[in-house]
Amino acid sequence: MEKLVVHGGASLSGSVNISGSKNAALPILAATLLTREKCVIRRVPDVSDTNYMLQILQNLGAEVERASGTVTVKAEKLNGAEAPYDLVRKMRASICVMGPLLARMKEANVSLPGGCVIGDRPVDLHLRGLEGLGAEVHVEGGNIVVKAGKGLRGDEIDMRGKHGTTVLGTDNVMMAAVLAKGTTVIEGAACEPEVIDLANFLNKMGARISGAGTSRIEIVGVKELGGVEHTVIPDRIEAGTFLVAGAMAAKDKITLKRVEPDHLTSLLDVLEECGYPVERHGKTLTIGKAKNPLGANLTTEPYPYFPTDMQAQMCALFATTPGISVVKDTIFPQRFMHCSEMKRMGADIDMDDGTAVIRGVEKLSAAPVMASDLRASAALVLAALTAKGNTEIHRVYHIDRGYENIDDKLIGLGAEIERLQE
Ligand code: EPU
Repeated sequence: MEKLVVHGGASLSGSVNISGSKNAALPILAATLLTREKCVIRRVPDVSDTNYMLQILQNLGAEVERASGTVTVKAEKLNGAEAPYDLVRKMRASICVMGPLLARMKEANVSLPGGCVIGDRPVDLHLRGLEGLGAEVHVEGGNIVVKAGKGLRGDEIDMRGKHGTTVLGTDNVMMAAVLAKGTTVIEGAACEPEVIDLANFLNKMGARISGAGTSRIEIVGVKELGGVEHTVIPDRIEAGTFLVAGAMAAKDKITLKRVEPDHLTSLLDVLEECGYPVERHGKTLTIGKAKNPLGANLTTEPYPYFPTDMQAQMCALFATTPGISVVKDTIFPQRFMHCSEMKRMGADIDMDDGTAVIRGVEKLSAAPVMASDLRASAALVLAALTAKGNTEIHRVYHIDRGYENIDDKLIGLGAEIERLQE
């Protein structure tokens, strides 16, 4: 296992290139199962989650090649419709092979993803959606078995749950519906940019999807799909994480290149409200130091509102921002492990019922801390950048699941970080 040692007192400057989106790439890779033809996907970030997805595709019989960000998948023949526990347990997003397998093979057998540190993550809405298309669903020996012997047929499907919309659930139903007979209407669809990117990919393959990016998606089923080339959208959460790094530790300002500023509106609004100067130039964003930084109250909600995947990083920012900030996560109310770790670094935070009340302290101080999930690890790296002393962050495999070379990118901006064997 590896750990990161982050030297505190960083002073960042210069520019960083943002990678392709992990959360857009994962369902797009799964969607390559829908055709026998070759798909070429560019800007796939080289992170362990995309590697797990490629392993699943290979295990199913697809031919996969990967060369510096470009992935080629040809799923001409599949040798089954089963995604085994050994692979699925490593990554919850494996669930998104269920829709494509069901559409192509008329059945799918996907291990039920277990619990996860950011909270209970049910898949009931995915299953409700696939049942709505005519699939039979049952759970057998820890696996979800979905079957549609007579094929899938379009229908009206409501995807809303008690925590709002579901991103991968919307993706799964959309991928199953593209080859269904007739028209499917998804009401209460997730509106995230990653859902739009998947719909664009599927439409290039020959699907007939309209309304992606709104809460009502209409899909007219087609007989077959073909191979395509596609470039994945920029990773808005990686970009957001670097924006917070700039807010916390820029000497003067830092620049992010290859971003899509329109996907970051809710975060940019909060950062500007807190006093950080932001400049937008096409696909480039610059963030500078705030003269008098302010805290904020924020609540995570489905897109276009504040993303849960930026909640932890904002807690790191607010930990040393004067005044009281209140951060509420309505999507994953248990996603606050990073706060317990930051308290070990001297942060003043009370957590209760999905809300963190953060009283900014002047400086955090280094302590050995443990990464618990992807975004929590990013928050700990951010906290460590400005802390006093050298912070050791253990279990960094969590950060490698979703950030491409985060330590090298931060070092490029002037941070001092070492990656060492435990
Ligand atoms: N939910 C249900 N039933 C379901 C599905 C979801 O109740 O069948 C609930 C969840 O428990 C949660 C809410 O609905 O309270 C939203 O979950 P969603 O299904 O949208 O999450 P997801 O699709 O599994 C994706 C991202 C997550 C991100 C969430 C929310 C990918 C691969 N993952 O997960 O990203 O937090 O949407 O935006 O796209 C991350 O990158 O660190 C990450 C966790």
